Amino acid sequence: MAKIKARKGAPYARILGVGGYRPVRVVPNEVILERIDSSDEWIRSRSGIETRHWANDEETVAAMSIEASGKAIADAGIDAAQIGAVIVSTVSHFSQTPAVATEIADKLGTAKAAAFDISAGCAGFGYGLTLAKGMIVDGSAEHVLVIGVERLSDLTDLEDRATAFLFGDGAGAVVVGPSQEPHIGPTIWGSEGDKSSTIKQTVPWDEFRSGDVSRLPVDSRGKVKFPAITQEGQAVFRWAVFEMAKVAKEALEAAGLTADDLDVFIPHQANERIIDSMVKTLKLPEHVTVARDVRTTGNTSAASIPLAMERLLATGEAKSGDTALVIGFGAGLVYAATVVTLP
Ligand SMILES: CC(C)(COP(=O)(O)OP(=O)(O)OC[C@H]1O[C@@H](n2cnc3c(N)ncnc32)[C@H](O)[C@@H]1OP(=O)(O)O)[C@@H](O)C(=O)NCCC(=O)NCCS
Repeated sequence: MAKIKARKGAPYARILGVGGYRPVRVVPNEVILERIDSSDEWIRSRSGIETRHWANDEETVAAMSIEASGKAIADAGIDAAQIGAVIVSTVSHFSQTPAVATEIADKLGTAKAAAFDISAGCAGFGYGLTLAKGMIVDGSAEHVLVIGVERLSDLTDLEDRATAFLFGDGAGAVVVGPSQEPHIGPTIWGSEGDKSSTIKQTVPWDEFRSGDVSRLPVDSRGKVKFPAITQEGQAVFRWAVFEMAKVAKEALEAAGLTADDLDVFIPHQANERIIDSMVKTLKLPEHVTVARDVRTTGNTSAASIPLAMERLLATGEAKSGDTALVIGFGAGLVYAATVVTLP
């Protein structure tokens, strides 16, 4: 048997820079109320959401990613040519192939970086971060760009009162690079495919292609509805509140820390009531800054954690070197939690 030589990378990895892009158009609850029977008060009290951003035609998945990544690369103080891999987590890039990551890698000016997309719903950032860490430690890349990006407005049924107010658009990116000390803890991640139907696309693309009005959902004007994301709100809410607090606790323990050691908590921005419940279950002390970006960004799935991270740092609510617990969870169902040092 031939002896294969292995490569060794850095001892550990860390997040070196973060950047975000929020579409120019801010959409208040009033606009959502034009299509559903609800109220600003109901949406705010049930979800915490006041406004969200919706992308225009120019703010494509690639364009928003490039903006966010440019900021992350500048924040990390590296050159794009030093990036060895680009990972894009998204469920709302409409071109099945090629991966949007290759276009982004090229336009950013990387030196032919490896590039691929992943689909891990609202846990996409944690999944990407975990892959990046592994790649840096095994020497496959010295710096990895992890992007979470969504145009969920394209996949929102504005006549569905259970979801119309929830989703938003945007991109968040981090540069992950080598470190002599651990600055990204062990990831606690997993999937629960037996609950896959609780968050899903209303109609698969192949069924949608049939255009058959007798079989497909139609809108108030009798036109076949474009596929959208639908969810069993209460089932997902219960799962998030009961199961995800346990996962977050496990991630904290795996990093050898307690709630007292934390400076910041950045959970997936899906619903402020889920965030409040987790804060309570985890018994987070008063000094821990909690991300509540959902109020003005809505649920941007894979983009939600890096966007919230960027905002906390930009507003001074968190600072470089702070210890943050991050947890993403959603469609799959999938989840990923870890503790990181903020860039
Ligand atoms: C979507 C969500 C905000 C709905 O809140 P909820 O408190 O669970 O609401 P319910 O679905 O139980 O509905 C409660 C009532 O409000 C009504 N309702 C539902 N949507 C409404 C709306 N937009 N406006 C006003 N009333 C509404 C329901 O009809 C129901 O009325 P009823 O009690 O007379 O039957 C919540 O379930 C949620 O956030 N779920 C998890 C989302 C999530 O975390 N996703 C993560 C993965 S991306």
